[in-house]
Amino acid sequence: MAEWTSVSRLHYKGRTLEWTNKPLMTSEQKTLKDRVALISGALGSIGRAVAMELGRRGAVVALSDIHSEAQAAEFLQQCERAGIQTRYRQVDVSQAEQVDAWIADTESALGVASIVVPCAAIVTRKGVREVEPAEWRREMEINVDGTFHVAQKSAMRMAAKKVPGSIVFLGSWVAERPMSRIATYCSGKAALRMLMQCMALEFAADGIMVNEVAPGYVDAGLTGVTLKADPERRKVLEALTPIGRLIEADEVAFHVANLCDARSSGVTGTTLLLDGGASLRTS
Ligand SMILES: NC(=O)c1ccc[n+]([C@@H]2O[C@H](COP(=O)([O-])OP(=O)(O)OC[C@H]3O[C@@H](n4cnc5c(N)ncnc54)[C@H](O)[C@@H]3O)[C@@H](O)[C@H]2O)c1
Repeated sequence: MAEWTSVSRLHYKGRTLEWTNKPLMTSEQKTLKDRVALISGALGSIGRAVAMELGRRGAVVALSDIHSEAQAAEFLQQCERAGIQTRYRQVDVSQAEQVDAWIADTESALGVASIVVPCAAIVTRKGVREVEPAEWRREMEINVDGTFHVAQKSAMRMAAKKVPGSIVFLGSWVAERPMSRIATYCSGKAALRMLMQCMALEFAADGIMVNEVAPGYVDAGLTGVTLKADPERRKVLEALTPIGRLIEADEVAFHVANLCDARSSGVTGTTLLLDGGASLRTS
């Protein structure tokens, strides 16, 4: 049976952007074939899951993290065994020139990235009274400036090369939900939500969709660390989540990948809330 496809066209100021839509898929189908994906913070729990999901759908994944290539080797081998083509570079996302060099290197080796998922982040678990100005600054440099560097530069490269694509931020339900002891993190995620919306507005005419997946309590990564340190905390977080369980990193990756699919090319400036209903609670 012939595969169903359709063509979307965007006309703007005398320019026409065109892309082919394919059917919404199972993740076994290579709907992201021939696309290059940039993922920062790619050695983290969610970054790895995103790399595997995008790779399984056919994208070539250009990964970076603050860790060395030697520290990345095991994960890169895992990708290779899964048939996923990777390229890795050590990058501190708070340093704009390192991000620029990564994007330039990726473009010359693999072509312009049309999928961009900035995942790098840290969390400072201190209340407003305790957080040091240097701690506030460093977290903002990584979580906000780092995401900005990756997203700004890649969007400009896509626009310059007339390549439509998708940028998906890793937001959080705490962007709109104040929490004690992580004020820096909440403030950074709120800033990113507005940046995502402004970028969506500015780059829509270039065929570049900018969205955000905003998880609640994920059973991995930044939250996972606290679960290991305090196993009782899992029960507390499950009780705070109406679906009665925590979110898996794979679920985050699934929704990120869906937003990168050409069938999502009408979705921009949106937050996909993946919090198991946690933000619906009023107490
Ligand atoms: N885990 C959760 O509960 C949760 C919930 C909502 C949102 N998120 C978001 O998901 C994303 C991934 O988080 P995660 O839970 O996988 O955490 P993680 O700690 O497993 O991954 C974060 C990665 O960022 C990297 N990193 C830190 N500083 C960096 C820097 N300066 N330059 C480059 N890389 C750097 C780390 O080395 C790590 O590999 C983050 O944006 C986080 O805010 C996580």
